[in-house]
Amino acid sequence: MDNRSGQKLYEKAKTLIPGGTMLLSKRPEMFLPDNWPSYFSKSKGDRVWDLDGKEYIDMSIMGIGTNTLGYGHDEVDAAVMQTVKNGNMSTLNCPEEVWLAEKLVHMNPWADMVRFARSGGEANAIAIRIARAASGKDKVAICGYHGWHDWYLSTNHNTGDGLSGHLLPGLNPAGVPKNLKDTVYPFHYNNFKELEDIVATNDIGVIKMEVVRNFGPEDNFLQKVRDLATKNNIVLIFDECTSGFRETFGGIHKKYGVEPDMAMYGKTIGNGYALTAVVGKRGIMEAAQKTFISSTFWTERIGPTAALKTLEVMERIKSWEIITEKGKKMQEGWLKVASENEIKINVSGLPSLSFYSFESDNALAYKTFITQEMLKKGFLASTNFYASIAHNDADFALYFEGLNDVYKIIADCEKGNADIMQLLEGPICHSGFKRLN
Ligand SMILES: Cc1ncc(COP(=O)(O)O)c(C=O)c1O
Repeated sequence: MDNRSGQKLYEKAKTLIPGGTMLLSKRPEMFLPDNWPSYFSKSKGDRVWDLDGKEYIDMSIMGIGTNTLGYGHDEVDAAVMQTVKNGNMSTLNCPEEVWLAEKLVHMNPWADMVRFARSGGEANAIAIRIARAASGKDKVAICGYHGWHDWYLSTNHNTGDGLSGHLLPGLNPAGVPKNLKDTVYPFHYNNFKELEDIVATNDIGVIKMEVVRNFGPEDNFLQKVRDLATKNNIVLIFDECTSGFRETFGGIHKKYGVEPDMAMYGKTIGNGYALTAVVGKRGIMEAAQKTFISSTFWTERIGPTAALKTLEVMERIKSWEIITEKGKKMQEGWLKVASENEIKINVSGLPSLSFYSFESDNALAYKTFITQEMLKKGFLASTNFYASIAHNDADFALYFEGLNDVYKIIADCEKGNADIMQLLEGPICHSGFKRLN
């Protein structure tokens, strides 16, 4: 392969940066150990160029779900460029943060106030601090992934492997103070009884959850959680960092007609520029003033500039409808290619955040093989797809044509006519967190 520059740089990175990169999901080992291009020199639309100038169509995670408008959206970039020209920082504050707060309150009629941060984990930590300050209680019930901070990882200091159903199995919360034990209680999605029991036996002040991750609410689950929170004076927080703007203009909770007391938005709100938001009811958000929540780079101007323009574009073109349609196209295409090759796969996720797995003992090897072979055909591809408005019909046609060729070989392996381990040119991809030596 002619993509060695990225791998060489990654080898160096591992000696300089523990874990190699800042985000687990972008580790080359998560895709194609030893052969992933690893670094980009340029990105635009749904295209990415590696350090050797090789161009790929990104049919994978699109910046891990940040760029629903595609990479380098012209209007968003022009607004950011203007901000760079006029100055990104000063002793005074940027007015964009007020305009953006106003816009988010308008979009979330149940909310009155907003705080901003630059990452999803930060927004989640801010929300927990405010909610604990408002409720006067330490104990939290959680469902979903909410970032890397102490408050969340402390769940794994309780008995059991509490985060295994939400984050990663077997995660050791090294470095997280053990006296946070028994402050955060995980519950499983759609298991209302489990949450009810947690609330009945612990002095819970906050419930934080992802509204939808891989499958939707059943048996009025969200409304039941809302009613339980209201009845027990518990602050209900919806983490919309990933689900926001995928199926509605704003939170996916709008689709289900259930409103939280606070919500976080992240990922796609700035189309690749860093901006996350905590929105909430006045009576709760005001508790931020009883504590200390403050940070230098939460005042820079590019984030809110990008978010204001991204919201304007998303609203105008109804981007959530476009990406949902593209995601459906992908899910249907995967199923068609699989059935034509008599391979069993399970497809799930919101259409715009689709993924699938093979029903086979060789599932992870096949996944690695797909990445290996599709890379040769000019695609960044795995077994998941985060849709953007930049993915067009021609890209889909090329992608499915290539994928069908790869599936034919996988079908041979399943029939025992070929050995997947002989076909892999490097190690199998990682399925989760691992120490890198
Ligand atoms: C629901 C949810 N909350 C929080 C986060 C953490 O966001 P970040 O990686 O920006 O810290 C993520 C990231 O995947 C997420 O999906």
